[in-house]
Amino acid sequence: MSVLPESNLALEVRGVTKRFDTRGIRIPLPWSKKKGDDKQVVAVDDLSLTVERGQIFGIVGSNGCGKSTLVRIISTLLYPDGGTISVFGHDVVEESETVRRLINRVSVEASFFRKLSPLENLMFSGQTYGLDRETTAARTFEILGRLGIDEAQVLRPLEQMSRGMQQKVAVARGFLTSPIVLPLDEPTTGLDPASKRQVQKFIAELHAEHDATVLLVTHDMAEAEKLCDQISIMAGGKIVASGTLSGLVEQAGLEGGRHGLEDVFLHVVGHAFDEEPEDKKAGAAASDQ
Ligand SMILES: Nc1ncnc2c1ncn2[C@@H]1O[C@H](COP(=O)(O)OP(=O)(O)OP(=O)(O)O)[C@@H](O)[C@H]1O
Ligand SMILES: [Mg+2]
Repeated sequence: MSVLPESNLALEVRGVTKRFDTRGIRIPLPWSKKKGDDKQVVAVDDLSLTVERGQIFGIVGSNGCGKSTLVRIISTLLYPDGGTISVFGHDVVEESETVRRLINRVSVEASFFRKLSPLENLMFSGQTYGLDRETTAARTFEILGRLGIDEAQVLRPLEQMSRGMQQKVAVARGFLTSPIVLPLDEPTTGLDPASKRQVQKFIAELHAEHDATVLLVTHDMAEAEKLCDQISIMAGGKIVASGTLSGLVEQAGLEGGRHGLEDVFLHVVGHAFDEEPEDKKAGAAASDQ
């Protein structure tokens, strides 16, 4: 039986909640205010979304709003506390093995064997996905070449590469196995403008060449506008607005002039994307005293 049914629904998230217990180590510290310090963080809060096959679906939101947690649950790395997620009809909890064959997450905190070269690292990944050595090596050179990494660097230990270059290797690894669903968690954060453009071009090209569905988490509004067919804005673990860029502008009731995602974000979330929310500012001021 094919694991990829004739479905147009690549990803279906239904009422997903994830809480973290932040009590950690229970040492009574002199400055802890009261017992009430013990609390749970609701990282993802009854969140639902659907992503159609072949879309580049963007998720934007401020630090700590739950984007990476959502991506981790979708990628079978965390269990949800409630709700369900299916990837092409396969439940991420009940059928995690099948889902892992369809999905490959790229994240900024990618782990590698740092003493080994990009080629050796990607050979290892290829092997775990059942790719033969020749195919893996050829694809490694091809993909990293397209991302602007020359052949000599492909053979040198990864720890000698800059952080941005290592990030490109993480992107290359994500695309190595031509996964059907690609959650990309901030693939271009911290890259210089030229590298950023290279990675964005690569994502767009690969997406066009393959039947891939991309879930793109980004802090770069221009990137979301440029690459995504649909965009969801997340705040406090929830989706607070969703649609095409023009749909979002319309939903926000923004009229006249040229409005972009920044304006929609400000309107929907109540603070600019690159600004701290008022309540956090107030909290920080209180704890400074
Ligand atoms: N393993 C964990 N244990 C406890 N709390 C966690 C854990 N992972 C995430 N959190 C908390 O859950 C919330 C959401 O975190 P998450 O990493 O999903 O945010 P994010 O939207 O990806 O933020 P950023 O833009 O900074 O990457 C935050 O309050 C965070 O502190
Ligand atoms: Mg994150």
